[in-house]
Amino acid sequence: MTNDATSSKAQDQPLLVTGGAGFIGSHLVEAFLAQGHPVVVLDDLSTGDAKRLPKEVRLERGDLRDAALPELLREERIHAVFHLAAQIDVRKSMADPLFDAEVNILGTIRLAQAAAAERVSQIVFSSTGGAIYGDPDGFAADENHPTRPYSAYGIAKLAGEKYLDALCSEAGVKVTCLRYSNVYGPRQDGRGEAGVIGIWMNRLLGGEEAVIYGDGLQSRDFIHVADVVAANRAAFESGKSGIFNIGAGVETTINELYRLVAESCGVSRPARYLPGKPGEQRRSVLDVSKAARELGLVEHVPLAGGLNATALWFRGHRAFQGL
Ligand SMILES: NC(=O)c1ccc[n+]([C@@H]2O[C@H](COP(=O)([O-])OP(=O)(O)OC[C@H]3O[C@@H](n4cnc5c(N)ncnc54)[C@H](O)[C@@H]3O)[C@@H](O)[C@H]2O)c1
Repeated sequence: MTNDATSSKAQDQPLLVTGGAGFIGSHLVEAFLAQGHPVVVLDDLSTGDAKRLPKEVRLERGDLRDAALPELLREERIHAVFHLAAQIDVRKSMADPLFDAEVNILGTIRLAQAAAAERVSQIVFSSTGGAIYGDPDGFAADENHPTRPYSAYGIAKLAGEKYLDALCSEAGVKVTCLRYSNVYGPRQDGRGEAGVIGIWMNRLLGGEEAVIYGDGLQSRDFIHVADVVAANRAAFESGKSGIFNIGAGVETTINELYRLVAESCGVSRPARYLPGKPGEQRRSVLDVSKAARELGLVEHVPLAGGLNATALWFRGHRAFQGL
């Protein structure tokens, strides 16, 4: 069989995206469809929305914790799995760590067992950078930085990485863990607790005040969702296993972010400052040189341009957001 024939066979085999009706997952689904891959989505629609999905996608509405995963993988002839379904709210993970662990740890173990039993070729896991490393020791945390998760969410994501490695690698399933920084872009849910950019844009475009907790000098690394999609595709196309930080590698303070977000929304009102949240991480920025070197992820959407495009989307989709 020629290489072309091999790759066109792989192209015909469906990909499973868990959490595909979510913010990041729906962009990934769209990108794979555009490449000609059939896509199956497993999503319980707890925070996701079926309206985000194109019609040609098969949506299996179900909870990761009780869906018949081996049967789904076998019957749909799933070639590779992109695991994004998760409880993503850090504060909720602290208020209800058992629920967080049920979805993010036990759900991931069940998927790992099914992927190993059905011998899928690869599982690409959406993990997290900031919440796993904690405050970086030096300027930017690389993949070898000590892991000091400060929340139940971070602990669960780290456990998910380790379970996938232990249960899948042994069975010959490649495991690629992508540790994202703070992701933003169109379709982010601006109504929840997670995703400061979406929350601010919703408020500012609705004529409301946006809030900064603390002095605004805390920093984060913001990555556009298109770059996260590119990272998942590169992980799949290269077939590389291992852990990769996926961020812009740029440290931006919350005050500077607010200035850019307000500008992108055409608003000049200042933010309202409220007392900082106890235990909130002070600095977070990822060293992304491994992903640049090994996955070819060299270019990133510049923050100001990415925010302008995101604000345009929020302007046009406030009705979709139920506002
Ligand atoms: N958004 C970020 O900044 C960020 C940063 C780091 C990591 N991540 C990770 O990326 C992934 C996607 O995040 P997102 O921002 O798109 O969140 P999201 O909430 O929009 O997407 C999560 C999706 O998973 C689904 N889901 C939740 N629990 C489920 C369950 N038990 N069974 C089946 N489906 C379930 C939800 O309905 C939703 O569609 C998550 O794993 C998250 O932890 C996100």
